[in-house]
Amino acid sequence: MPQQSKDTSQDPLHTSLQPACPSPALAQDKGSATGVAPHNLDQEQTDAQPGAQAVMRATLSDLLGIELPLIQGGMANIATGRFAAAVSEAGGLGLIATGGFNAQQLREHIAEARSLTNKPFGINLLLIHREVEELAAIIVEQRIPVVTTGAGNPATYVPAWRDAGSKVIPVIPSVALALRMERAGAFAVIAEGTESGGHVGELTTMALVPQVVQAVGIPVIAAGGIASGAQLCAAFALGAVGAQVGTVLLASEECPIHANYKQALLDAKDTGTTVIGRQGGTPVRTLKNRMARDYLKQEKEGATREELEMFTLGALRKAVRDGDTDAGSLMAGQVAGQLRQIRPVAEILDTLMEEYHCVRKELSAL
Ligand SMILES: Cc1cc2nc3c(=O)[nH]c(=O)nc-3n(C[C@H](O)[C@H](O)[C@H](O)COP(=O)(O)O)c2cc1C
Repeated sequence: MPQQSKDTSQDPLHTSLQPACPSPALAQDKGSATGVAPHNLDQEQTDAQPGAQAVMRATLSDLLGIELPLIQGGMANIATGRFAAAVSEAGGLGLIATGGFNAQQLREHIAEARSLTNKPFGINLLLIHREVEELAAIIVEQRIPVVTTGAGNPATYVPAWRDAGSKVIPVIPSVALALRMERAGAFAVIAEGTESGGHVGELTTMALVPQVVQAVGIPVIAAGGIASGAQLCAAFALGAVGAQVGTVLLASEECPIHANYKQALLDAKDTGTTVIGRQGGTPVRTLKNRMARDYLKQEKEGATREELEMFTLGALRKAVRDGDTDAGSLMAGQVAGQLRQIRPVAEILDTLMEEYHCVRKELSAL
């Protein structure tokens, strides 16, 4: 099936997010040859408040030594070495996800990423992985600059990773876990709201991020529901130093998911996702389809947590590799409704930053 854009002419979400800051025009106005706006946020803050004492907040780009304040979220079965390298080459921090890979495959993906980029990339360790000990040791051995973790508490691995020079950045859904991670020696935390794709917590990004910022002394990165410059701007306004994005990058040319999965994302509406697995304690946000309905039924019939976990991982593979949009698990966040077209990763990230700068300017004029 050919990939088509949504008709956005009657779409209030589209009109509210996009036309005020049309990215291509902005790039021309700035005379940017590459279409990339400058990303020095501190400098812009100084420009916006002449004569005022600028509040200097280190951004994620400064903290990680990357060009843009953006991390590509780890995505099981999707975030390969090649995909992570594409994101890092585009100026963000690419991550190789471990979900769906064994130890040997992880080594191969690291080697592939290193063959494609000299820029830093990281690893996302899924803490419920069968080979978690072996994967954690590979991170030490390979001296990976950034490690993010999902689905659990990585405290036992933090000392070894830190000794190997890694910055450890756990994904957290609550203030309590953020505080535990700070005590365990985390470099920063990713506060992920329930809007996000994949495993989710209860709190929204809007409610979670400022409460985590208030509670911890380490940098906070916002995740969940960020797919436009306005949303990135909101993340900064809430006190984050940058953002982790997942769903918006699923709609990229380089993302190695089946074309049917991409088309389902383009077809999704604002209410197009649902959360399965709440009952069993492993809530996962996916696009609504037959698999999601079957899962909820299995859950009601008393399937075990492990059975359901295997069911989603197997189903994700069906969606990613076979393009089975009926029986596959099409994990995606609520921003799927905003996705309009499949674009190169670099264009997606550049547009996010251009919109971000434009929205900041608009807000400072209020
Ligand atoms: C398809 C998919 C798979 C994901 N798998 C993982 C994973 O393996 N590990 C993890 O920590 N987070 C995972 N996530 C969460 C992302 O890393 C990221 O935090 C999230 O997508 C950000 O929210 P957004 O989807 O609204 O951009 C996944 C998200 C998606 C959409």
